[in-house]
Amino acid sequence: MTRALLIDTDPGIDDAVAIALALGSPEVNVIGISTVGGNSGLAATTNNALRLLEFFGRTDIPVASGYDEPYRRAKTETGYEPVHGHDGLGGVDLPAPTIKVVSTDAPAFLADKIRNSPDPVTLVAIGPLTNIAHLVDQHPDVIPMIDRFVIMGGAARTGNVTPVAEFNIWHDPEAAKRVFASGLVTVMVGLDVTHSVKTHESLWNWLKDCSKFGKVFDHILTSYTNTYETFYGERMTHQHDALAMAEAIWPNLMVLEPAHIDVECSGELTTGMTVTDTRLRNGVKSNGFVAWTIDGDDFHAKLMSRLSALAKSLG
Ligand code: RIB
Ligand code: CA
Repeated sequence: MTRALLIDTDPGIDDAVAIALALGSPEVNVIGISTVGGNSGLAATTNNALRLLEFFGRTDIPVASGYDEPYRRAKTETGYEPVHGHDGLGGVDLPAPTIKVVSTDAPAFLADKIRNSPDPVTLVAIGPLTNIAHLVDQHPDVIPMIDRFVIMGGAARTGNVTPVAEFNIWHDPEAAKRVFASGLVTVMVGLDVTHSVKTHESLWNWLKDCSKFGKVFDHILTSYTNTYETFYGERMTHQHDALAMAEAIWPNLMVLEPAHIDVECSGELTTGMTVTDTRLRNGVKSNGFVAWTIDGDDFHAKLMSRLSALAKSLG
């Protein structure tokens, strides 16, 4: 059974890898993409989604533009530019898109796709949860229609932007709090698992053997690796979004544990923290699952085989 996949994203270098993984995986059928501000402003993330789909030859996939401003708080930064570059894709040489976004806003677009899909819908959010918060506000009827909801975001035990907050949650904590409280059962693929997988630069050596895909992805991944080397002192990256996408494509690829997850929105030191309670005592019920572990070698085998299949199809 093919599953319908909706991707909410802020491309973003690791978002681009995750989108390529989805397009290279026959288990899922990408029925739509919505864009959100995060790694860069909404104009850049939307431009990147469009030009990536054109590059992949998938102009059949509709794109809806979402929210740039966070759900409740004022935008304080333009995106995680040190990591993804001024244009959100490391300054890659990729033509501007000729395709356009659909006329509907992201929440209405996602709701329409969910209501009308003949196949079970997996919604995977790999950016801040701003669009998803507006979706559950404006179209609560679709919550029970979503077969599975997987996010890249948060962490039970660590952080990246701060010691306890992960970027997608930290960028819009009120949106994340709203989503975790909405009744949507959320599979949280956070830093607990994404930091456990190091994608060393050598794993991308095959890119040099394929022309079109290799040229673009060698550029963006070298840019991403250069940044990571300044942070971590080694030539590797964490493929956060592709890991979340892998859990969406292969359910329970990861070890998941039921948990009640809530978000700190006002702590002086803890804003953006996903407070993850796996004790589930005193009437506290789970509202999702926290992902703890994955077989990194198996993930890399899956990722590289699907990406190289997509690369070959591009010539
Ligand atoms: O913390 C990692 C997340 O923040 C990823 O989704 C990456 O694309 C950035 O948005
Ligand atoms: Ca992202």
